Amino acid sequence: MLVLGLETSCDDTAAAVLQDGNTLLSNVINDQTKIHSKYGGIVPELAGRSHIDQVHRVIGQSLQTADVELKDIDLIAVTRGPGLIGSLLVGVNAAKGISYGLDIPLMGVNHLEGHLLAIFLQNNIEFPFISLVVSGGHTDLYRVDNFGKYKILGRTRDDAAGESFDKVAKMLGYKYPGGPKIEKIAKDGNSTAHKFPRAYLGNGSLDFSFSGLKTSVKTFIQDREEGKTINLSDNDIAAGFQEAVVEVLSNKIIKACEKENLTRVVVTGGVAANGALRKTVESACNNASYEAYFPDPVYCTDNAAMIACAGYHRYKNFPDSKANLLNLDATASSTLGLNL
Ligand code: KG4
Ligand code: ZN
Repeated sequence: MLVLGLETSCDDTAAAVLQDGNTLLSNVINDQTKIHSKYGGIVPELAGRSHIDQVHRVIGQSLQTADVELKDIDLIAVTRGPGLIGSLLVGVNAAKGISYGLDIPLMGVNHLEGHLLAIFLQNNIEFPFISLVVSGGHTDLYRVDNFGKYKILGRTRDDAAGESFDKVAKMLGYKYPGGPKIEKIAKDGNSTAHKFPRAYLGNGSLDFSFSGLKTSVKTFIQDREEGKTINLSDNDIAAGFQEAVVEVLSNKIIKACEKENLTRVVVTGGVAANGALRKTVESACNNASYEAYFPDPVYCTDNAAMIACAGYHRYKNFPDSKANLLNLDATASSTLGLNL
């Protein structure tokens, strides 16, 4: 079965061709970093326009790389939300056009389900497991019992972890997206030079909060400029900040496993590309005799392979899903669940 996946929820125009749920034939991404970086964040209108410019070229390239033709595709899977509505509409309408034109089924996919199931591109992990979806817009802990069976255990009460990476990078003068930049400069920093605060939100809570940490870094940078505190390098600040985020994420994953009595963990979403997070979670899981799984970094950040994969499993498990209709619509906000 050949699935064409389409992802246009934010600032990446992406298309992928996936065979039988786990053989990836192509994974094409046109990222818009150059368009948005001078504004310090994503400009929704520019994102939508760029998707319109790129979507046909990216689909064409994904088919060409996979060495298949559009008529060979059996199912089209597209991100229907959450995301920027103007961006989502481009992918959803392109997918509807293809579905109608070829008379093939269409499957709307929740972007978070795409991140969550990205692990199945490379690994047939057994259910149940704990999943942390950690990206620019979400920091969610789930108990995953099966395809479509997700129970939220905790989420951020303010900033997402990726958002806090981006904001701290901006404070240090780096362009969007800041996560990879912080990781890079943190490698030459001393994470113990200054201890930034960790928010655990009370005993047993599986929620997150990163806005206090962000403010603390901001105050520290201001004090540094005014000579009111020790003169730490940007590298040390990045390393101290990254360690604070990573420690809380890792700690809550272990807590979630203990609470739910589970021993398998999947960490996914853009921030899961972070090497320090992967290393810390892996070592915490090893200590507790748990198994930790991470998609390769290229499948952690936004991509269409994960959407094709989630669409494939949704179609196999729920062929009559409401999302499998031509009157499918994009939705800016949606929670993860059986009915999207
Ligand atoms: O999943 P994603 O590509 O898009 C969303 O769904 O949000 O995640 C993007 C987020 C951004 O905040 C970006 O700074 C962060 O993931 N990110 C990272 C790294 N790579 C991407 N954060 C920390 N370390 C990284 N290596
Ligand atoms: Zn994402």
